[in-house]
Amino acid sequence: AAEPKLIVVADAEALAQAAAERVMARIAANPGRIAICLTGGSSPKKLYQLLGSDGYRSRIPWDRVHWFVGDERFVPESDPLNNMAVARAIFLDRDAPSGHIHPIPTLVENPNESAAAYAHELQAFYGSERLDPARPLFDLVLMGAGPDGHTASLFPGYPEIEETARWVVGVPKANVAPFVPRVSLTLPALASCREMLFEIAGHDKQPILTRLLNGENLPALRARSHGETVWMVDRAALPEGIRGPR
Ligand code: 6PG
Repeated sequence: AAEPKLIVVADAEALAQAAAERVMARIAANPGRIAICLTGGSSPKKLYQLLGSDGYRSRIPWDRVHWFVGDERFVPESDPLNNMAVARAIFLDRDAPSGHIHPIPTLVENPNESAAAYAHELQAFYGSERLDPARPLFDLVLMGAGPDGHTASLFPGYPEIEETARWVVGVPKANVAPFVPRVSLTLPALASCREMLFEIAGHDKQPILTRLLNGENLPALRARSHGETVWMVDRAALPEGIRGPR
């Protein structure tokens, strides 16, 4: 997979704007059914707010877009930690047809059962149990990078990061807060996209971005699209000594 392309923007506000424009460009590039894989954590919230604002929501062909999520905290949708619930509350519930919102089910026995159910849902949507490199599962996959270098809920040193067959896995114990079990798409499932877009903003991200730019073999570096991989970062997250545009 191609090296990530680094795009530097001024701040978190500019990052959300630029990310929203990439979302719109991916939507515009596909005249048919569109699949977007969302993410959790704090990073995408500004982007979700923008997509729900008047300027953007009127430009989204809601009847053609399906919304998935790359990882989930194994808590009910009523829990504020639930990633898809956050996206729904900020923008999806207002405009997306409910059949086009595809949450990871958490009202099941355990994360493994949830993972199996979501894999089935993805495979039914895709129309195959085998990923064809010529036909990506997602148009766009949104990602973030955690302080330990995790992405989605694929944590460094955990066995799930090595998964090559399954599309979705249960992760019994998280490596960082919140310490709830997780359900995560795997590297091969996440890679099946036209574009993987990382949003990395703020001074708190400087240590991990420095490590990633130094080439440490962490999950956030190993996650690559078969198409285009973009790291969108703001100046505050950049390592000392690297200068972005003024
Ligand atoms: C999650 C996310 C996770 C996130 C990173 C960055 O469920 O926590 O999907 O992979 O993207 O942890 O999180 P922040 O945006 O909060 O820094």
